Amino acid sequence: MPTPHIGAQKGEIADKILLPGDPLRAKFIAENFFENPVQFNNVRGMLGFTGTYKGERVSVMGTGMGMPSISIYANELISEYGVKKLIRVGTAGSINPDVHIRDLVIAQAAATTSAIIRNDFPSFDLPMISDFDLLDKAFHIAKDLKLNAHVGNVLSSDLFYGGPNGVELGKIGVMAIEMEAAALFYLGMKHHVQTLAIMTISDHLLTGEATTSAERELTFTDMMKVGLETLIAE
Ligand code: HPA
Repeated sequence: MPTPHIGAQKGEIADKILLPGDPLRAKFIAENFFENPVQFNNVRGMLGFTGTYKGERVSVMGTGMGMPSISIYANELISEYGVKKLIRVGTAGSINPDVHIRDLVIAQAAATTSAIIRNDFPSFDLPMISDFDLLDKAFHIAKDLKLNAHVGNVLSSDLFYGGPNGVELGKIGVMAIEMEAAALFYLGMKHHVQTLAIMTISDHLLTGEATTSAERELTFTDMMKVGLETLIAE
């Protein structure tokens, strides 16, 4: 049965999925990395595909931008389609002098400005952490590929424009700002499934450097490879 936001039948989505924010990046990943990709979703243009990568069944689907959007898709993927490993691949803005444009950030944890966790656990400042097994695998895969990969804390912000000044957190070692990881990690913790977020630095909030949108859509292939290799690693 399709869900309100995903038009797939049960069984059409693999139990391992890569989650880019941009649905066109999902299409790019399916077309360039999957053997025999089959599209399973087009509701709201949020393209999703299932195929195989090195013979292992995997899926990829866009999530849209922000924690409300990724929460809708991740909830349905976990609760209705039985997905067990979910890896976000996306972009982030560096707030740290040691984290450079085009570097990879593999999020160990995500602070957030969102109320999504506070709604459920108002008495606790609960850290949102990724799955250690996926984190460990992704880090070693990135190192084996000789990529500049950092592991640490990110900030998942509700706002791209305005809001609390997240750049302040760079001073205590937070690496980058993005908009989805904390919600994904929370759902992983809540539903006992494995989640991770791997980001390429697309812009630097301290230096003003930026990549183009064409580069963001098409060329962040190292991150996609690390995500896929992590999904299928034993
Ligand atoms: N803020 C939030 N999300 C982002 C940014 C940013 O500066 N860059 C890429 N994703």
